[in-house]
Amino acid sequence: MKRSTFGSKFGMLAAAVGSAVGLGNIWKFPYLAGENGGGAFIIVYLLCVLFLGVPALLSELSLGYIGRSNGIGALRNITGNNRWGIIGILGFLGSFIILGFYFVVAGWSLEFVYQSVMGEFVGQSGEVITQNFDTFRFDTWRPYLWIVAFIVLTAGVLYAGVEKGIEKWSKVLMPMLFAIVVYLCVYSIFLPNSSAGYKFYFDFDFSKITADVIIAALGQAFFSLSLGMGAMMIYGSYIEKGTNLAKTSIQIASLDTLVAILAGLVVFPAVFSYGIDPAAGPQLVFITLPTVFAQMTGGYFFSLFFFLLVAVAALTSTISILEVQIATVAEEFKMNRKLSLVLMSVVMLVVCSMCSYSLIPIEEGNELTLFGKSMFDICDILTSYIILPLGGLLIMLFLGWFYKKEDLHYILVVETKCSEGLFKIYYFFLRFIAPLLLLVVFLQQLGVF
Ligand code: TRP
Repeated sequence: MKRSTFGSKFGMLAAAVGSAVGLGNIWKFPYLAGENGGGAFIIVYLLCVLFLGVPALLSELSLGYIGRSNGIGALRNITGNNRWGIIGILGFLGSFIILGFYFVVAGWSLEFVYQSVMGEFVGQSGEVITQNFDTFRFDTWRPYLWIVAFIVLTAGVLYAGVEKGIEKWSKVLMPMLFAIVVYLCVYSIFLPNSSAGYKFYFDFDFSKITADVIIAALGQAFFSLSLGMGAMMIYGSYIEKGTNLAKTSIQIASLDTLVAILAGLVVFPAVFSYGIDPAAGPQLVFITLPTVFAQMTGGYFFSLFFFLLVAVAALTSTISILEVQIATVAEEFKMNRKLSLVLMSVVMLVVCSMCSYSLIPIEEGNELTLFGKSMFDICDILTSYIILPLGGLLIMLFLGWFYKKEDLHYILVVETKCSEGLFKIYYFFLRFIAPLLLLVVFLQQLGVF
């Protein structure tokens, strides 16, 4: 059977940018920037994207492009044996952990779209909004209902396949997402005292850069660019032969970073405009912002568009992660694609329900904790700080040290028209700089320094 491919360059780009742009950009990036000193975090983040993210992204797309299969199969096709398949297996397992908390938060975004439509934030105080959020999260069925809804949406798109599902929907949803972000950014400018927000966001105070800030930025770069888990590998395997992979990687990374920065430009003016703490953490988007919307003139529409933005961004990302599972199971176990889709959706429903349940405070009977952290938090930490960087490291070690340089040169320069100079820079980063940086960060986390 002929393997599916994306039908057009724009469609391919929309799908890949759709995978990259997600909760990472709109939920995580602003709160990480808020917690880690605003402008200082942004500078470190940009460096991580440039020196690590882009080479890792190009490597992952290339592996998929060359191997024409899922993470396990692609490496088998390339090496002729199963040894490096560990990269694919790690990614496959990682996909459960990411989706475990990702669908939960994606589900919240639907609840918040619903609450926005019903005008439930209008005129409410911070306490009421905090309490409503907790009541909702700890409810016995509501969060699960939205998880089911989100899984059904995701599976529905994937059911139609690569070109008619993933690509078609990405082409519609991504331009919509850009339009909403830009609209909200412009709206934010006119909020009273918005300048305080810009000041915080662009305050490049280098004394705020610590090891923790660097690690947070690095983990975030991997998460935001969908790296280290075989998601970009799968998309690479659907890319038409001859497409310029280096250019595509730079485009994906630029657009993804642009949306993250724009999300901050939506959030911080609003937060500062109403004198609220920017370092609220994960609840920044779900508690702090609704409190702002409640007081804002035009807050009804602002909140509606904002949570629509979150939901759309999340959807094109869950599509790419679930696709890893579906393609891997279908190809490795020679299972019918639709059966694999149903199977994985059901498995994810169980995993996500457990994650959501684990958020109930310990005093109220939650048993799904480890070291005082909920399963939800553990999933989040495990992926950004361990699984993704490790996957990225293995991918780059393989391509830089075990794959023939002439072959990679042929694919990138001759077949996909990357310039000679760019290839040289990439190859140097691939072999030396990126693995070294990742290694240092791992050792640092293990407490070696
Ligand atoms: N990049 C997405 C975001 O920022 C999440 C995501 C999609 C992802 N696919 C992935 C993260 C693969 C890691 C690996 O929300």
